[in-house]
Amino acid sequence: MAIVKATESAVRIAAELLREGRLVAFPTETVYGLGADATNGQAVAALFAAKGRPRFNPLIVHFADAAHTEAHAELTLLALRLAEAFWPGPLTLVLERRAGSNLSDLVSAGLSTVALRVPDHPIAQALLKATGRPLAGPSANRSGAVSPTRAEHVEADLGDSVALILDGGPTAHGLESTVLDARGTEPILLRSGAVTAETIEAVLGRPLVRRTQAEDRPSAPGKLESHYAPRAKVRLGATDVKEGEALLAFGRGVPVTRDPVLNLSETGDLMEAAANLFAGLRALDKTGAATIAVMPIPETGLGEAINDRLRRAAAPRA
Ligand code: TXA
Ligand code: MG
Repeated sequence: MAIVKATESAVRIAAELLREGRLVAFPTETVYGLGADATNGQAVAALFAAKGRPRFNPLIVHFADAAHTEAHAELTLLALRLAEAFWPGPLTLVLERRAGSNLSDLVSAGLSTVALRVPDHPIAQALLKATGRPLAGPSANRSGAVSPTRAEHVEADLGDSVALILDGGPTAHGLESTVLDARGTEPILLRSGAVTAETIEAVLGRPLVRRTQAEDRPSAPGKLESHYAPRAKVRLGATDVKEGEALLAFGRGVPVTRDPVLNLSETGDLMEAAANLFAGLRALDKTGAATIAVMPIPETGLGEAINDRLRRAAAPRA
């Protein structure tokens, strides 16, 4: 039982563990992250092992503030504008690594770039400040599985391989950060997420280039790979429920069924649906249904990121 309430003293202990090279799971405003000292190669290697994550999939590095990122990345004008508008917050920027950065090479997985994020969550912030090191922080789930939005999800997935799980309650957004390549003058969307494309486009006054990549194969953009996968099969765009299916509903007009139903948002609110998505998939998976049928969700606003996760959850598995 490694879950502890994220009190001030628990955060202090977590910071000590991280400085010793141990792994600590912590809440952010998006999903729970699995933290490791990003400057410690052994700690980062242990993180890849704990997640069962392929070494070619790079990690996001978390910082307490934008100023701390400067030693590690070549900031561009585009990056500065985005950081100004969205940090702290659920936007991750991919930039060229700066020569002399003391980040472990493993976080970049052989790429010349690094992904940077400044989370907007009091516990994540307190942990980063107390540790005094940048933290590598992938979502705290086994590679390919559904991301954790509660401390218990982390424990169910990673259990003993984590020294400590800081419990900060359910996460607010429920979807991971939006990942943007900001190396040039063109903003390239690599992963849709908690900040909608429309919001970013409004700030920049220009459209994003969409080059969404497979989660576990960043070098082969656009390939749809299985990820966020529950044990059950996932059927999208469901307007009816077949025998033995569990239903992940959205909005009103839910088909009648005797099997388990969970509504992401009865009022059709996409923010509410995003916050409930991963916990909903986990809960329906637990019912033992062979298939989870998912009602259609509009592709607008946060719907883009929700549908991205659902399409990956439904993608053929290896
Ligand atoms: O909200 C989030 O971003 C959460 C919380 C914990 O911060 N973290 C998260 O990390 O979702 P992870 O590892 O589950 O997803 C990181 C994504 C992956 O798709 C990875 O391929 C991509 O970011 N990524 C990381 N570094 C990259 C890089 N240098 N170039 C391109 N993509 C990168
Ligand atoms: Mg992940």
